[in-house]
Amino acid sequence: GGLHSFLVTLPKCEHHLHIEGTLSPEALFDLAKRNNIKLSQDDAAFASPATLLERYAKFSSLDDFLHYYFKAMEVLLTEPDFETLAMNYFETAKKDGVVHAEVFFDPDAHTKRGISYETVVAGLRKGCERAQKELGISSVLIVCVLRNHSVSDAKSVLEVAMKAGHFSNGTLGGLGMSGSEKVGKPEDWEEVFTTAKNAKIHRTAHAGEEGPPEYISTALGRLHTERIDHGRTLAEDPELMKEVATKQILVTLCPLSNICLRGIKQMSEMPIRKFIDAKVHFSINSDDPAYFGGYILANYCSVQEEFNLSLGEWEDIAEHAIQGSWCSAERKRELKNLVY
Ligand code: HPA
Ligand code: ZN
Repeated sequence: GGLHSFLVTLPKCEHHLHIEGTLSPEALFDLAKRNNIKLSQDDAAFASPATLLERYAKFSSLDDFLHYYFKAMEVLLTEPDFETLAMNYFETAKKDGVVHAEVFFDPDAHTKRGISYETVVAGLRKGCERAQKELGISSVLIVCVLRNHSVSDAKSVLEVAMKAGHFSNGTLGGLGMSGSEKVGKPEDWEEVFTTAKNAKIHRTAHAGEEGPPEYISTALGRLHTERIDHGRTLAEDPELMKEVATKQILVTLCPLSNICLRGIKQMSEMPIRKFIDAKVHFSINSDDPAYFGGYILANYCSVQEEFNLSLGEWEDIAEHAIQGSWCSAERKRELKNLVY
């Protein structure tokens, strides 16, 4: 459809972006060389950046992707590695018209292989500070617990972050949950999320990416989440969809990700029109752009190609994205002034 140049310049908020998911095959090989890391010998996909990209084009599921995602991030060792990773993302985001980014990271995937929580956070934080200063992009770091690790792992992640004072000093802006939807049930993490709620820490969780809409209602109920990440399968439960609309819960859709990981066959299966009709607030996001063939603008454009939304509908999407962001009221006013 039309509106391409409008979409390029439209100020965007990104709410669903895993910083480790921005590690491109090229960057991975550079870091492996610099850090003296031998890439997996028993997987021919790791022969070159080109063979890795070919493999990424054939993901069969979330778990198939996660295998490569967790392997690839093993080349990240030092604070500058994390700073550069973040800064490279922000530079690309800037070109795509991103003005505010809320960025997930998986500390447990790094501590499990001997990289300290402090190293990871210090590097990412520097990247965020530079993004603000050099690019005018505001950002929020969201610390994720992993569904494919244990509940006690999740408890320690939250405890370490709270003890470091990172939620009160502005280093971290919220708690998220990602990883495989095939392991455990969301309610297993109830205690962790209740602790976060009691400490007035913002909460979100991946739900309804591959899993059923019940995962979404559990996240909203027992995990007290204020947003839903992915939430694609929400459209399968009209009652729940109404509730999400009424409560103005932001759903952070990731269209290209859902296609790449075969949750859907094609863009027409994304519930974009259903969400608009039901007045569900949603944002459009890139998830793991180095793996799924495109950053945020590519996601916006693919949605537009399929759904041919009106200018007013895009303005509503931008408005809801700002409203659902976890930045200050002052920053929200600034962001609104950028859109209108
Ligand atoms: N789902 C779950 N976990 C993830 C994802 C995702 O899309 N990306 C990175 N970790
Ligand atoms: Zn995700």
